[in-house]
Amino acid sequence: MRRLFRSSTKDIPQSGDMPEHVAIIMDGNGRWAKKRLMPRVAGHVRGVEAVRGTVAACIERGISYLTLFAFSSENWRRPVEEVSFLMGLFVKSLKNEAVKLNKAGVRLRIVGDLERFDPELRQAIAEAEALTAANDTLTLTVAANYGGRWDIMQAMNRLAVAAPEKAGQYSEADLAAYSVMAHAPEPDLFIRTGGEQRVSNFLLWQLAYTELFFTDLLWPEFDSAALDLAIQSFRKRERRFGRTSEQLESTCVAAPAVPVNKVDA
Ligand code: IPE
Ligand code: IPE
Ligand code: MG
Repeated sequence: MRRLFRSSTKDIPQSGDMPEHVAIIMDGNGRWAKKRLMPRVAGHVRGVEAVRGTVAACIERGISYLTLFAFSSENWRRPVEEVSFLMGLFVKSLKNEAVKLNKAGVRLRIVGDLERFDPELRQAIAEAEALTAANDTLTLTVAANYGGRWDIMQAMNRLAVAAPEKAGQYSEADLAAYSVMAHAPEPDLFIRTGGEQRVSNFLLWQLAYTELFFTDLLWPEFDSAALDLAIQSFRKRERRFGRTSEQLESTCVAAPAVPVNKVDA
């Protein structure tokens, strides 16, 4: 199997390429609805349509991984009616979409602290994941009750239990293997809709060298043209991963050996 890209290793992706992994914070549903004098939850319903369109656009463009932030560990702080509406919408969408996603060759992964979800939702997640497990056109990861800090902590705790003899000597690769994102390469392109320029506890570990793109479009307004704008911006960036421009020009991948104080290059 192909090695998954990690920014701490030598095999770096080249500037100008299409992103292999796009990660999106789908923000602005509530404001979209408010602008139309509708209840916030109407924005979430429209948000599902934008998800559908984005999945199709990623497949058309040959993107292999799409990761969507659907519900953060902090979103439980919202009014209880909105939280329960979102949970219901999640169950309904999983049940409605699983067969269609499967037909389209999508492998679905739901990542986050799923223990807090009720059994009906956990069951729907398990079924949708099992149904689509063998697909490889697009890996669609939905982060639900997810937080970047939560992921780092659960990975650290699981690693410490699995390899106590190595305590004090763990490497980045050791930890990354226990992340709930271990099945995917690190994101190349991060998009946040809704105008805020923050990471809100999404993929803290994996975004180390991801190119960031922010748009004022609200999530229900996000479409394939908006995705293309983000990709266009991404392809113009020079990804240096700590190196100099000159190094990138002379050789695309091979970093020179570092004789002393070798970092994990
Ligand atoms: C994003 O839209 C969806 C979730 C966080 C579930 P919001 O609901 O955050 O919409 P705004 O930011 O309030 O407009
Ligand atoms: C981030 O959006 C989480 C999701 C899109 C699921 P929020 O709307 O919760 O983020 P903050 O609170 O504005 O940072
Ligand atoms: Mg928001």
